[in-house]
Amino acid sequence: MSILYTTGRESGAGHESRTAAVESTPDHATAIAHPNIALVKYWGKRDDSLILPVTDSLSMTVDIFPTVTTVSIDPQVRADTVVFGEEPAPEHIRARITRFLDLIREFAGASGHAVVHTRNSVPTGAGLASSASGFAALALAAATVYGLRPDRATLSRLARRGSGSACRSVHGGFALWHAGAGWGADGDHSSYAEQLYTSEFDPAMVITVVDDRAKRISSRDAMHRTLSTSPLYLAWANTCAADIAGIRAALGCGDLDAIGRIAEHNALGMHATMLAARPPIRYLSPKSVAVLDRILHLREQGLCVYATVDAGPNVVALCHESDAVAVAAELGAAGEHIRTFIARPGPGAALVSGGGA
Ligand code: DP6
Repeated sequence: MSILYTTGRESGAGHESRTAAVESTPDHATAIAHPNIALVKYWGKRDDSLILPVTDSLSMTVDIFPTVTTVSIDPQVRADTVVFGEEPAPEHIRARITRFLDLIREFAGASGHAVVHTRNSVPTGAGLASSASGFAALALAAATVYGLRPDRATLSRLARRGSGSACRSVHGGFALWHAGAGWGADGDHSSYAEQLYTSEFDPAMVITVVDDRAKRISSRDAMHRTLSTSPLYLAWANTCAADIAGIRAALGCGDLDAIGRIAEHNALGMHATMLAARPPIRYLSPKSVAVLDRILHLREQGLCVYATVDAGPNVVALCHESDAVAVAAELGAAGEHIRTFIARPGPGAALVSGGGA
């Protein structure tokens, strides 16, 4: 199959149009992507359907808990099929993935239903960004089988349409998601993530799982409720630009203390906005607070360690790689049945097979 496609104006890459020739399209493709943990959070959309955020956000893609997704086009099937591990995906997830595949088919001018096999190694729904690695891997595998060859900015924009934070998992290391400007096509074209280059340093994250059950309220619903009811939301959103500037400067000189200080402040501020929503949203559990206390205690003892928490009870500690084992031991002892995982900066989304990986 040979297709020409045009992605239209791409303000991120500074092109008015981009056309790629696709020599041949495989009938299946497998992609791998890793979760990312935001240091300046994405919390709040200015457009729900295009998934355009209110603020810029900044994250580190990790090297553990990958999602591996294979997409095959099957002319025999009459609807998209989605398999999670060995089980058919629940209907609401299948419907969300079908909506995403419809979008890719529309961009590609292609048809044909797909069979999607996806394997998550992160506890799904526990506030550990499984949707980020999931939609980054799906975007790459699906774009490939439907004949698109997107550049990184375009792939990031596509992944964003599945789940906002997925646009950052397209990149390895540290990534900045530009909120972009405007609405409709202007907003869409200007809202994508780019990779940030950093000076040599040794960041690690200790992912502390206090509870791996699916959360009661999804981050999508929670951010919507926060935006529409929390009087603290705008105050927090107004701090994000300075937080991004501070972390970018600190990444440039490898100042982990400054990065951690800003990240912790930004995350606790985000949780404060939710506590002030109506009805309130509280993701932090007593165990999360016990872990946060331990982090504070370690810091008082002179360790460079700071916390961030996504939309869930699990706490992520940012520290130097050389301290990670000691930090993990200390945080694992904060309560019963707490598991810790050490992560380092990981790679961006990649094809494992299909499309000349
Ligand atoms: C708290 O990307 O899961 O992890 O765009 O609605 O799918 P949707 O939301 P999602 O939100 C993630 C929110 C967060 C913060 C972050 O990753 O920046």
